[in-house]
Amino acid sequence: MPSDASKQIGAAPERERWGSRIGLILAAAGNAIGIGNLLRFPGQAAANGGGAFMIPYVVSLLLFGLPMMWVAWTMGRFGGRHGHGTTPGIFDKMWRNPAAKYFGVVGVALPLAFVLYYAYIEAWCLGYAWFSLNGTLESAPGAKVDLALFFGEFLGNATTHNYFPGPTTALVLVVVTLSLNAIVLYRGVARGIEVLAKIAIPLLFIFCIVLAVRVCTLGTIKGNVLDGLNFIWTPQFGRLGDWNVWMAAAGQIFFTLSIGFGSLECYASYLRDRDDVTLTGLSTASTNEFVEVIFGSMIAIPAAAVFFGAGQIENIAAGGTFNIGMVSMPEILRSIPGIQIFGTLWFLLLFFAAFTSSVAVAQPVMAFLQDETRLKRPVAAVILMLFWFLGTLPVLYFYKYGVLDEFDFWAGTIGLVVFALIEVLIFNFAFGIDRGWKEMHRGAQVQVPRFFRFVIRYVTPPALLFIFGGWFYQAIQNNTLVPRPSLLYNVVERANYPGDFVSGTRPEWSEEEATRMRAQADAVFARIQEAVELSGRDLRGRADLRFLEDGTVQVLDLRVDHALQDALDSQALELYLSGVGYRYEVVDDGGRTESAAATIMIEALNRAPYIWLTRLLMVVFGVAFLVAIHAIWKERSAEGGVA
Ligand code: TRP
Repeated sequence: MPSDASKQIGAAPERERWGSRIGLILAAAGNAIGIGNLLRFPGQAAANGGGAFMIPYVVSLLLFGLPMMWVAWTMGRFGGRHGHGTTPGIFDKMWRNPAAKYFGVVGVALPLAFVLYYAYIEAWCLGYAWFSLNGTLESAPGAKVDLALFFGEFLGNATTHNYFPGPTTALVLVVVTLSLNAIVLYRGVARGIEVLAKIAIPLLFIFCIVLAVRVCTLGTIKGNVLDGLNFIWTPQFGRLGDWNVWMAAAGQIFFTLSIGFGSLECYASYLRDRDDVTLTGLSTASTNEFVEVIFGSMIAIPAAAVFFGAGQIENIAAGGTFNIGMVSMPEILRSIPGIQIFGTLWFLLLFFAAFTSSVAVAQPVMAFLQDETRLKRPVAAVILMLFWFLGTLPVLYFYKYGVLDEFDFWAGTIGLVVFALIEVLIFNFAFGIDRGWKEMHRGAQVQVPRFFRFVIRYVTPPALLFIFGGWFYQAIQNNTLVPRPSLLYNVVERANYPGDFVSGTRPEWSEEEATRMRAQADAVFARIQEAVELSGRDLRGRADLRFLEDGTVQVLDLRVDHALQDALDSQALELYLSGVGYRYEVVDDGGRTESAAATIMIEALNRAPYIWLTRLLMVVFGVAFLVAIHAIWKERSAEGGVA
């Protein structure tokens, strides 16, 4: 490669640059602001007791969020000066040790794993914007869409096919979403990412304001907006001792600020040498926090408080991270006039937030291909999109086996803490905090308080280690590291009474009763799991149920897969269903309560092969980058140049 060799004598090869300061600020905001702010934040806050969550959240912002933000921007700009936008090259320049570049692999493999599922969620948002606009989600009298089942079927996470015959809709949405990402990445940093941010971020703010105003003027139904705000903002000092709340808060800070991914570093590498990083880091964090704390808490949670009552918020959140955004929000929005407008705005808002983040997560892979393997941008884009598309397929097709959650655990939860730890250690010890602090303040427009120097050096690293240990400990405690079979069941045929099937603790149960019922269901479930593991495949069944007036479930007829017969008979199923509080809730039809009948389909899923496949895929990503880096550096030293 003669042209490369000649360049190595002088400066690093010419890299792309941001076009304007405002463009950079908007792009950085777009990187941080994402699904994390508008879906994950309300979900996490609600699931962790609202006001109980906010104190550890703010502490985490100060101890990890801001310090790591500045460290990332500083390291990225430093790398860019030497022609490297990704952490293998950056670490190599900061730490004169042959091992440094290999540690940097985490900063490219992680974003690649992350974007596979993140873009899938982005595709859902685009799809739901379309379903709102074309009226699919609207409640037509007599044919009300069951939104929870609709979402389940859309994801292929249901045993029925009332709304979607198969995964084709999801696939089409993925293709559209990835194509949009491809266009932006292909056009590059200034002409792609920056242009997108200049359009999407102002729109995002407008959508947020419109929705927040709409929610604030909802009035009172089962509660009012203030109940929702009180839920989030009343500090609960009593839960400060709950370890899980601290873990969740720290995780949310990492996720929402895009810390520990190599993505901010990559954006920073397109700065000029003396461009400010301190004010830029601060403004990225503040814009993100503004959107998260103001809009993240003024839309979904108050709306849920109005329609379902503040007491229900925690239950809704317990239904899963996306429950509040993808099931409750459309439920609320379709009961006020104009779901076509507000529903579309809500999901377009989520889509734009996700879009400006997904290009940010993918950019490190682009930068790696361009900076290190010296590919031209269009070629890099084609290669990335190929991996991206192929990698999304298992997330899409095997959703019900927990593939998305598995990626989220390793790439979106554990991985970023590990990476942040490596990064801050290199910054503190290999590069040196004195040199690092000076580098940070080169061309700085604001002086970072010395307090943070102390934090970066002495507080962040041990605290990161602590969190990492905490998550691992939790995973071991909950036994989630070994994949176990899961169970799905949905109504396939129902007698036509007005009402809904629900499960969860019954209001009339005492605490001991709830615990006893739960244990009874768990015992049956454990036997189902054993049967699945023994047979090594998915097992199915079908049952006719009757719901009696006193709320009990009666199994009239049950036909199951041969291998399931010993574990699940009619009586066991009755125990299971009543144990989880499965019941039929009659919608108020003038005081008439009737028993109802339904046929449900059961699927006991053998998750293990899919979970191991997912883990293997992540390992393959890591190994592929390791091998590539090894080869690239070897070739460069053979050329006699400095890498
Ligand atoms: N911060 C983004 C959000 O709030 C998601 C995210 C996490 C991310 N890590 C990232 C985005 C890395 C870009 C790069 O949704």
